[in-house]
Amino acid sequence: MHGESFLPYGKQNVTEDDIQAVIEVLKSEWLTQGPAVPEFEESLADCQGSLHAVACSSGTAALHLAMLALGLKEGDAVVTTPNSFVATANCARYVGAKVIFADINPSTGLIDPKSVARLLEKDTERNIKAIIPVHFAGQPADLPAIHALAKRHGAWVVDDACHAIGATYESNGQSYHVGGNPHSDLTVFSFHPVKHIAMGEGGAVVTDHDELAERLRLFRNHGIDRCDFINTDMALSPDGIPNPWYYEMGELGFNFRLTDLQATLGLSQLKRLGNSLQRRREIAETYRRLIAQKFIQDEVIPLTLRPGVNHAYHLYVVRVDFSRCGVSRAVVMNRMRANGVGTQVHYIPVHLQPYYRRVSPTDPWDMQGTEAYYSTALSLPMYPELTEADIERVVNELSQALRVQPVETASGEKVKEDKQVS
Ligand SMILES: Cc1ncc(COP(=O)(O)O)c(C=O)c1O
Repeated sequence: MHGESFLPYGKQNVTEDDIQAVIEVLKSEWLTQGPAVPEFEESLADCQGSLHAVACSSGTAALHLAMLALGLKEGDAVVTTPNSFVATANCARYVGAKVIFADINPSTGLIDPKSVARLLEKDTERNIKAIIPVHFAGQPADLPAIHALAKRHGAWVVDDACHAIGATYESNGQSYHVGGNPHSDLTVFSFHPVKHIAMGEGGAVVTDHDELAERLRLFRNHGIDRCDFINTDMALSPDGIPNPWYYEMGELGFNFRLTDLQATLGLSQLKRLGNSLQRRREIAETYRRLIAQKFIQDEVIPLTLRPGVNHAYHLYVVRVDFSRCGVSRAVVMNRMRANGVGTQVHYIPVHLQPYYRRVSPTDPWDMQGTEAYYSTALSLPMYPELTEADIERVVNELSQALRVQPVETASGEKVKEDKQVS
């Protein structure tokens, strides 16, 4: 049994200041629908360099709101990546639209614009109404290329930036923030505890489109409007003054509201985002250096960085040649866990989920990049509190776990076993 603390693959950071800020809200008049939500939205929009931020109850709700705001419906289709959490694809299904999966680049884990282009070419009936790239692990996808393809096709771009708050990329020599750029219509964030900003649950959509922002707000709150009434006779009293109790539901919306408790926690954490991103980038650099020293070429390699990007490092993913090492990923993960290091696989390709095999069958031939990526991916611990010694320990544990010895079972079968089982 190891005597050191367990290192999970990701971990939230909640400080005494965060706790005090939330306590103040608990003592205030507003637990929800109060002033903290617009305050958080303003800070987020400022931080992203966008005109509007609409906060909501989760990243999943934010994706769903994006589909509703764009008016996607049955008969429409979206193109997205299979290398994401299921929520990215599910949002299209919530509104009845079809999901078409594009392949990914196995060296980055990001959606491949060439695969998107092929899918758009085949869409002669122009059913594809939106493309949803994911800035996987915190690295911006090639938004300028995807945006150019989408606009030529008459489709929207909704980028899933749940991993990538604070990431930047370059286009034509200019630097752009994910969430505040001309290459996307709506950008979605999650504030789940494993993400950079931990609100328990929470999400947001940022946009520069005034009309879309209004629709996002409408669908977030049951589709209820308190101005622009249709039933004007009901809205006004016989003497012509507005009825103070009156509201109208013009659309079928949801309760996707964020509470003031969550927004306050988010506001407090947003202040630390710059420091957290800097530390994550330092950790990534240490990993890169130690991995290059420890492993022979191609045995373990970090994901490739695209030129000009400033990665947000929600995750630190390496690609491991398990077959060359002669050991399965399950054995490596179990061995590392037994020695106090948590790892994870991001992600099981969404098109292989039983639901999507049923509703969106995908030709395996078209998904070779995804298959190559998935067979090798392993996420190592990544969160700002990791020390240099922790990172060294993770790399050493990975190295040891890959060098397990085959032992013979009673039946004479050779299986891989940990040579240091205690
Ligand atoms: C890429 C991506 N999109 C969407 C989501 C959904 O966010 P939430 O958990 O806040 O609903 C997640 C959450 O893990 C995610 O990783």
